[in-house]
Amino acid sequence: MDFLEQVRSSADIADVIGSYMIIKRAGPSRYSGLCPFHKERTPSFSVNTAKQFYHCFGCKASGDVFKFVQEIEGISFWEALKALAERYGIPIPRRDDAAADAETKLRAALYRMHEIAQEQFSANLFSQAGVAARDYLKRRGLDREAATTFGLGYSDPSGQALIRRFQAENFTADQLRASGLVRERESGGWYDMFRGRLMFPIHSERGKIIAFGGRAMSDEEQPKYLNSPDTEIYHKREVLYNLHRAKESIRQNGRAVLVEGYMDVIGVFAGGGVQEVVASCGTAFVDSQARAIKRHCDTIYVNFDPDPAGTKATTERIPLLLREGFKVFVVELEEGLDPDEYVKKHGAERYRERFQHGSKYFHWLADQARRKHGSSAEGRTESLKSLLPALQDVQDAAERLAIADEMADLMGVSPEERVRSGFRKAARDRKADAMNRFETKLPARERELLHALLANPAAREAVLGRLMATNSFKNLTARPILETLARMVEAGAEITFGSLEARLENPQKTLLHELISADEIEDDGGGDTAAISLEQALRCLETLESDDRTQARGEMKARVRAAERAGRFEEALQLMKDLEDMDRGGNR
Ligand code: UTP
Ligand code: MN
Repeated sequence: MDFLEQVRSSADIADVIGSYMIIKRAGPSRYSGLCPFHKERTPSFSVNTAKQFYHCFGCKASGDVFKFVQEIEGISFWEALKALAERYGIPIPRRDDAAADAETKLRAALYRMHEIAQEQFSANLFSQAGVAARDYLKRRGLDREAATTFGLGYSDPSGQALIRRFQAENFTADQLRASGLVRERESGGWYDMFRGRLMFPIHSERGKIIAFGGRAMSDEEQPKYLNSPDTEIYHKREVLYNLHRAKESIRQNGRAVLVEGYMDVIGVFAGGGVQEVVASCGTAFVDSQARAIKRHCDTIYVNFDPDPAGTKATTERIPLLLREGFKVFVVELEEGLDPDEYVKKHGAERYRERFQHGSKYFHWLADQARRKHGSSAEGRTESLKSLLPALQDVQDAAERLAIADEMADLMGVSPEERVRSGFRKAARDRKADAMNRFETKLPARERELLHALLANPAAREAVLGRLMATNSFKNLTARPILETLARMVEAGAEITFGSLEARLENPQKTLLHELISADEIEDDGGGDTAAISLEQALRCLETLESDDRTQARGEMKARVRAAERAGRFEEALQLMKDLEDMDRGGNR
């Protein structure tokens, strides 16, 4: 068996994909989840373990385990192959390296440079040169174990240590330039980017070092933190500090704690507070980072610094988190302490207790607004209005209105004032796209029907025409989808999920997406699937036809009674006869 086949047969697609995101079993050989390649709220992403294939019915991403790793990591085939080989402990043949493309080679060099830098920084910290840095760590309450866990280091102040090492290893000028670790002088020559700083390695979700943050060791030195620039292996908008360590704990606890800085993460994690803690690295927290967390949990506790900047950041980030579909809580710490200081002063247990007092985000927002606008009647109405943006980001309409009312109650704003100020209307009619607003679900029977019709040409032939002739057809939620399908059949178009989906607009598109996440669907084609789906479609059709009859009978009976009441006995008799005919027809 060659290397590729060896890796392919060892790597289970559900196991691999499951390490990047949450997938749930949806059938004997199917998992489903929220697609990591496009933004969505209902799962369209399906993993087929029998065929070792994934497919997203939303954005059409699909492929095997190698493709998945390539796409999600943004790496080449060869790198994905190697990553999987490493994961499953399969020895990697050396010869294949020559086959790599230029970008792959560059990334490999950058990874290597970061490993070298890491070795050098941590060696410095624990050598003679690192005395001051070690003192600094001690002052901040971090012991050697914490420093080791987080791979902390110290960059040589000369500005020549790392570049010398790189040159000794024969990295090319292009590689040096692309690394973000060293810089070129205009006058020629190179120097280290990080000098005399406490170094924090930043890891990818898979645990490779891809960047550094460097903290100044005195207040005079600016900036306080110097961060690696974006490079071929580091996209800071997508990376979260500590995610690779926190991931397991995030999944187990079903929540992530978001703090502002490197030191908060370390203080909270190493101090025994919580392990499911992450921070953005030198940027504001953005949606791509939210999505990286969303692959592992759906609840976020925001625990930013209790200063004005932290409060502002909390207020600003809440709508973003809501838009990504998180349940959001805010944790506030007393005495103006940041998470790091708090754990140090009060201990891990008391820090954890604060999470029990974490407020739902809207209570927190209401408090902030009240503080800002005061408690006069106008102040309260102003406060309420200031909550609208966050409120409008709540996806679920019923929840949105319930929260709106609860907030108004909290603020003591009267029902008349809620209406007068337009608050209630604004809470109800949020400006969202059609897809979000559409909340109807397909009834189980229609789901079954649609699935059968999609799966089986014979079912389409036997059922579609009769179906559209029923009276109940016009009441079906899936009616526009079925009509589209019928047009496609008539036009002789190829019928697949994809081709149908391409012809639909929202909200029907969304309905179709929901269809594939339903439990009853199993698409790995056992021998008698066709027979089953034909039978299924016929059964659904017959239910509809019998619904038609029941309804027609009901109407007829009502007409009989009306005629009797009005004394039109002849008409009543005729109607009763029709009803009997109808029943006979129905018992055919
Ligand atoms: P903080 O100033 O709160 O940093 O900035 P901190 O991590 O708590 O560190 P200590 O406790 O002061 O040592 C929060 C985050 O903002 C980014 C860093 O990511 C930092 O962790 N930051 C801050 C910068 O990138 N550059 C700066 O100059 C300051
Ligand atoms: Mn701090």
